[in-house]
Amino acid sequence: MSTTFTIDTATSRATPTPAPMKRLTVPAVQGRKIDGVTTDPLVMLTAYTARQAQLLDPHCDMLLVGDSLGQVIYGLPSTLAVTLDMMCAHGAAVVRGSYHSLVIIDMPFGSYEASPQQAFASASRILAETGAAAVKLEGGQAMAETITFLSQRGIPVMGHIGLTPQAVNALGGYGARGRSEAEHAKILADAHAVADAGAFGVVLEGVMEPLADRITAEIAIPTIGIGASARCDGQVLVTEDMLGMFDRVPRFVKRFDNIAETIGNAAERYAADVRSRAFPTDDQVYRPKN
Ligand code: KIV
Repeated sequence: MSTTFTIDTATSRATPTPAPMKRLTVPAVQGRKIDGVTTDPLVMLTAYTARQAQLLDPHCDMLLVGDSLGQVIYGLPSTLAVTLDMMCAHGAAVVRGSYHSLVIIDMPFGSYEASPQQAFASASRILAETGAAAVKLEGGQAMAETITFLSQRGIPVMGHIGLTPQAVNALGGYGARGRSEAEHAKILADAHAVADAGAFGVVLEGVMEPLADRITAEIAIPTIGIGASARCDGQVLVTEDMLGMFDRVPRFVKRFDNIAETIGNAAERYAADVRSRAFPTDDQVYRPKN
């Protein structure tokens, strides 16, 4: 029996009801790269809230609940203070707001590095509490055993190599990686380690373009680039970056809008209307019927 649902996104007070659910699966994402070639690039954006997910979902293959929410939502100086509680709360909201995309949730710093067992406890909590289908974790060779441990126990893992923001203190900043021969060799080895360990995909962040191309050509799983190469199997951006929410535009970001200006202008007009008592008007107040 099939049931038709509608999703009510009419107002901020609406209760969204699920649309017919046909989510992209992990094997479907992996299957987009056939014999080393992806003809239909994978589209991924970050999402942190239900309404944002509703708006992005029809256009994306994957929604990433990134730990970048630490800076974007919480105003933290880095991703290091992001907690499992935060990831679970935002992850569940994004799952509730999406019907088509595969939802992937970042494992926060300190929740997985100690051992495969620690990683399993954290990842299983994330999947159980959010309803998401996969997790992402940072690190290459050092995380290979953990990726295998999780994958073999039914937890799909996306890797993340190159510029790994959780390692900002060790890396000394957020600069692109792979400039020196040693770094180049390390990132290449990381890519193979992550793929061989059983990850279903890997984010290449801030990686020199020729290296990203080489990795994409050499490994069987899809590469998702951010500041990497147009020839990666897919691309990801932090949604607020591509919407123009922030003043600084890093080299790897393309702005598709200027939402900061739109919000600022709307707030300015609202404030003026409140101060001049032009808002609310008769149209926005309730009056008893005579
Ligand atoms: O946390 C995040 O948003 C990410 C993307 C930048 C890939 O990891």
